[in-house]
Amino acid sequence: MLAMTQSDTPARLTDYRESLSRRRLIGGAALLPFAGSLTLPFDALAALAATAQQPLGPFYPTAFPREQDNDLTLAPGASGRAEGTVIHLSGRVFDVEGQPLRGAVVQIWQTDKGGRYRHPNARGAELLDPNFQGFGWTRTDDDGQYSFVTVKPAAYPGRTPHIHFVAGFPGGTPLVTQMYFPDEPLNRRDGLLNSVRDPALRAALIAEVEDGSDIEPGALRAGFDIVLPGRAPA
Ligand SMILES: [Fe+2]
Repeated sequence: MLAMTQSDTPARLTDYRESLSRRRLIGGAALLPFAGSLTLPFDALAALAATAQQPLGPFYPTAFPREQDNDLTLAPGASGRAEGTVIHLSGRVFDVEGQPLRGAVVQIWQTDKGGRYRHPNARGAELLDPNFQGFGWTRTDDDGQYSFVTVKPAAYPGRTPHIHFVAGFPGGTPLVTQMYFPDEPLNRRDGLLNSVRDPALRAALIAEVEDGSDIEPGALRAGFDIVLPGRAPA
């Protein structure tokens, strides 16, 4: 069961905090020795570690659409849908207090099914799937949730499959990171993934992926939550 689904509501924020805290808790262990003598506010124990930063990489898009466009499987003017396994990707964006962030901007970019970026400096760009948009952006809704439709990216020399993310809210510091896939043999050797030394933070970069054929035949559903550094603007 994914941690983040369309049906989740703020009423279940406690569930989110508990599940996220298991994966990303910081500070809580250090506070526990005092728990018997102090009444700690819940937020102190529920504080989340910010999602690990990852390099922007050389293929950050040269432009994003003016309007929100979160379907990478349909490029403007394309003759059909992108090749590859369709992924319905969603998640929520939180601040370090566990507050879901409404209106946060989330950008993604990635390779197509063949491991090619839509970028003028990318090698093999002439072989890019013309129907694959390669990048997109959206804003989180009232529950801090974002969603994209994309295809499974491929490994390319030196890298395990991944999706690049930038997420931020007005007045906040944008977070640059990368999302990975579970059970990928190359994950063990990927230098950027393994540059995150903290096991919990590294694990939090790996999406939860499950069958998504209830959404459309042959598709996957992926969940990836993001914790931005800092706190939501008042
Ligand atoms: Fe990349």
